[in-house]
Amino acid sequence: MSISFNKQAQTFKLCAKNTVYMMKIVDEGYLAHLYFGKNIPDDDLTYLLRLDENPFTPATNNRERGSFMDNLTFEYPCFGLGDYRESCINILDADGMSTVDFRYASHKIYSGKPKLSGLPATFANNGEAETIEILMLDKHTGLEATLIYTAFENLDVITRSVTFKNTGSRGVNLTKALSACVHFDHPDFDMITLNGSWARERHIERARLHHGKQSIDSIKGESSHQNNPFVALVSPNTDEDMGDAYGFNLVYSGNFFAQTEVTQHKRTRFVMGINHKDFNWLLEAGEEFVAPEVVMVYSDEGMGKMSRTFHDLYREHLVRGEYKDKRRPILINNWEATYFNFDTDKLIDIAKEASKLGIEMLVMDDGWFGHRDSDNSSLGDWFVYESKIKGGLKYLVDEVNKLGMKFGIWFEPEMISPDSELYKAHPDWAIQIKGRELTQSRQQYVLDYSRKEVRDHIYSMMKKILDSANIEYIKWDMNRQLTEVGSTTLPANRQRELWHRYVLGVYDIMERLQVDYPHILLENCSGGGARFDPGMLYYSPQIWTSDDTDAIERLKIQHGTSMCYPCSAMGAHVSDCPNHTVGRNTPFKTRGHVAMVGTFGYELDVTKIPQEDRDYIPYQIQEFNKYNSLVRTGDHYRIGNTFENIEWDAWMFVAKDKSEALFEFVQVLMRPNYTSRRLKLKGLDPNAYYYEESKPDIKLSGEALMSAGINVPTLWGDYQSAILHFIKA
Ligand code: DGJ
Repeated sequence: MSISFNKQAQTFKLCAKNTVYMMKIVDEGYLAHLYFGKNIPDDDLTYLLRLDENPFTPATNNRERGSFMDNLTFEYPCFGLGDYRESCINILDADGMSTVDFRYASHKIYSGKPKLSGLPATFANNGEAETIEILMLDKHTGLEATLIYTAFENLDVITRSVTFKNTGSRGVNLTKALSACVHFDHPDFDMITLNGSWARERHIERARLHHGKQSIDSIKGESSHQNNPFVALVSPNTDEDMGDAYGFNLVYSGNFFAQTEVTQHKRTRFVMGINHKDFNWLLEAGEEFVAPEVVMVYSDEGMGKMSRTFHDLYREHLVRGEYKDKRRPILINNWEATYFNFDTDKLIDIAKEASKLGIEMLVMDDGWFGHRDSDNSSLGDWFVYESKIKGGLKYLVDEVNKLGMKFGIWFEPEMISPDSELYKAHPDWAIQIKGRELTQSRQQYVLDYSRKEVRDHIYSMMKKILDSANIEYIKWDMNRQLTEVGSTTLPANRQRELWHRYVLGVYDIMERLQVDYPHILLENCSGGGARFDPGMLYYSPQIWTSDDTDAIERLKIQHGTSMCYPCSAMGAHVSDCPNHTVGRNTPFKTRGHVAMVGTFGYELDVTKIPQEDRDYIPYQIQEFNKYNSLVRTGDHYRIGNTFENIEWDAWMFVAKDKSEALFEFVQVLMRPNYTSRRLKLKGLDPNAYYYEESKPDIKLSGEALMSAGINVPTLWGDYQSAILHFIKA
């Protein structure tokens, strides 16, 4: 059984594939964390709590209660009781008090995994996972917290979330309601985070823990370019292939908070959840609140295995819909080709040329609606800009379909331009604080998605467009962060709920799209990759990774993204040179090899690029087609790391059955007069023999390829790339 309760010892044991997570109910009903790590046979590790070591004893006589409270490894730490480390829950009750005291009340264990109302979450069928719900009660207020844990049978994954219910008779404000807390008995960790900015999202940073607190967060209303809701805690000697690695990822697309704290006793407390900054949620009697899910992955074989576990979980148990396991159409997007300067004829010209080369879908990006010729108008006016889309949308889509191509369209459904019919009719629909000047960003405001009538109206406009022509793909964009966060309809005591209500509103519309248009492929985007998070993956199987399409910059961005997100979800396109973001010139071939790691497509004016690049596209597509199934479904291994070594990068995809492997190499900087570079492959069957496709006569054992390595020929010039295909003999 994967979850069990030892009644005598009062311990819970959650077994995922090779991972165990343990807790114990101690005296007075406190729930303590015992262990998280490699599988062990025991189910009582009470000794780990040191309850027999003075002064850290549960003191029913209250003598040393303070020491006990500030030392116990609380599974869900409360504020106000003498635990001065970071709490998971803070409240403001009807008497203005902030103390809360959760004690164990009951638990239940069952097969499968529950949905989280209104929120994205990983899913599992009966037999694939087991769940335990532990009910905790604060007797004083009647506030209940149900701690929900799921252990996955075939993956080293435990997920956590919390639901709250006010069973008391008076309102309680949740001023902080994190989703998870985990304790480690030492501070010997490096903290790995994914940080950056627009056009350089999810760069990896690794830093040793030290006394005090190290945190990342977002308070922008989205998961953000700057910090991703992901943290890994790894042993100082952990690398890609060996050592302990604990990965944590919040399934949420709004403000988040994650923090490690090295305590006075040199232990580590990690917490994660919705950012409590500017958060207040009023729970009236009988009301409930759901905190989002934290995915926890343990690996005893370094960061590589941790990432592959995340990839498997998200591919199998998070991404939904028709495209979950399907090759995505090769698209051409007109953004970098034309920006706002296009019309029907231009798009058909692009489609004509693209269709001849084997490209399968035309995506019409920003600028087709209202009277939008630049970014200063029309968001919210989701009707066709007739003088630009001459002949109408249906005509354009039909023409594109006649060429044998699918058609996709861009929306930015959460936004409203001051220069729009929508704003003239409903100025109060923008998020705002009455009487304060409203900050513009990209000359736009954010719609108040907490309001159902706003969502309904936007959705009905989108629906009209989607029903008017054969649209098979949507790019959902979001190009600014939230400011002056207030709603014209919420009462004062619920205004601080708007951050979270906004995110729930976005999820609501995305869910409606899933249900009403199951055949449409949804690609999420936020000014590039500001919302590349697991919450979004629940609704869109692919996410635009970054506006930076430069192949060399993408090495870092895609490497960082692969820490926890599968390559099958990374929007990646071949664009024109000099690159529009960094001005770099890279070979067309290299651009293709780097884009092949993701969903693959083009973002250029195919009627204008050099003839030799155009001629290369059919070959590039053939290569993509040949390897896409391996890339989408195989195991990903990082070999190089351009954060540490700027000269080259390499990575692999290995089939689950180890029958074939794709090795990709990019020579970032040419160095003269060296012999070829020797690199060791990963993930192969050591006992099998493999040949490289272009040299079928040379067979080498997987062991040799992994332990002795291969010679990667020096390529001529900077930014060159090569791929090698290994097949089991
Ligand atoms: C930001 C996106 O990341 C781009 O790809 C493009 O869609 C623009 N917005 C359009 O405004």
